[in-house]
Amino acid sequence: MSGIKILATGSCKPALTITNDDLKKCIDTNDEWIHSRTGISTRRMTNGEPTWYIGAAAAKQALERAKLSPEKIDMIICTTITGDYFTPSCAAVIGREIGAVGCPAFDISAACSGFVYALDIAQKYLASGAMKNVLVVSAERLSTITNFTDRSSCILFGDGAAAAVVTSSDKFYSSYMGCDGTGMKYLYAKADHRDHPFTDSPVYYDDQTSPDAPVGVLVQDGKEVYKFATKALPHALMSALEGTGRTVDDIDIIVPHQANIRIIETAAKNLGLPMEKFFVNIEHSGNTSSASIPIALDEAMISGAVHEGQTLGLCGFGAGLTQAAIIMDT
Ligand code: COA
Repeated sequence: MSGIKILATGSCKPALTITNDDLKKCIDTNDEWIHSRTGISTRRMTNGEPTWYIGAAAAKQALERAKLSPEKIDMIICTTITGDYFTPSCAAVIGREIGAVGCPAFDISAACSGFVYALDIAQKYLASGAMKNVLVVSAERLSTITNFTDRSSCILFGDGAAAAVVTSSDKFYSSYMGCDGTGMKYLYAKADHRDHPFTDSPVYYDDQTSPDAPVGVLVQDGKEVYKFATKALPHALMSALEGTGRTVDDIDIIVPHQANIRIIETAAKNLGLPMEKFFVNIEHSGNTSSASIPIALDEAMISGAVHEGQTLGLCGFGAGLTQAAIIMDT
């Protein structure tokens, strides 16, 4: 069993704080409605800083804390659905900024499961012995694809980045990754295509995504996503535990994707676990997609809630529809 050790984490929370009351500028809403249905009071937003910039800031902090120079990084995986360029990858730009050039660098798009997917890819390379240190960076500016006229979705999202430097260990590790594209219609954002000199307007998957849906912004069926998420969180964790001889009660602490406090509460109940086992920071971060788990993990490691000698669960779920979990001894 080849596990991983998180040498250090870092994060970057953009300076702009947007309260629930601030959202009244765009939509008819109120603090009580948003807080009671989501657990969110404030979220952070960038004020023009690019995604690579906040990702690089988080990566620099993680490297400093790991006391590792950028040349020691063997691979950079960036997770984002809100990169600044179609190409190059956000990972390539971050590598340039932090001085980690030469090693492979690439992005993955797995929405809110992105960090867990990336960590699991890192584990495979570390386990093979091909690499010693992998940098995973999750950086998102959901404010760039949020529809601020849709009051049932724009209340949820925020911006942020976090990074983890990982190496191999001989401790317990088990994982699960999954995706069901038949649920793509419940949460998507159409890519913004330009006029083409030779063909008609772009064709999307039009029996899955509405032809009337605005381009470039998130479209969500909140009720369907809610139903999926409350099942996906327990399912991914249980699937990662399958065949390991361990049970859910062996997990000391779970850092779940911070989508909505009610999703986490319902999942906790379905798993038969107390809420105390879940690390939650959604009140002041909102849903930052793939950055949400590592931002929470960074807070949990700094506060001591996650420390050596524990069994840690990480669990993501989101657009795709994707879901993923890792159970590991720290
Ligand atoms: N402020 C005030 N009222 C609002 C509102 C807002 N921001 N958004 C919606 N409403 C109103 C609706 O118009 C509706 O009013 P009506 O009954 O008069 O028609 C009422 O509140 C209920 O709306 P509904 O959309 O049914 O709310 P809901 O209880 O399903 O909650 C979500 C909406 C988005 C909070 C909930 O569906 C959810 O959390 N889904 C999961 C989203 C998620 O986590 N996505 C990311 C996953 S990675």
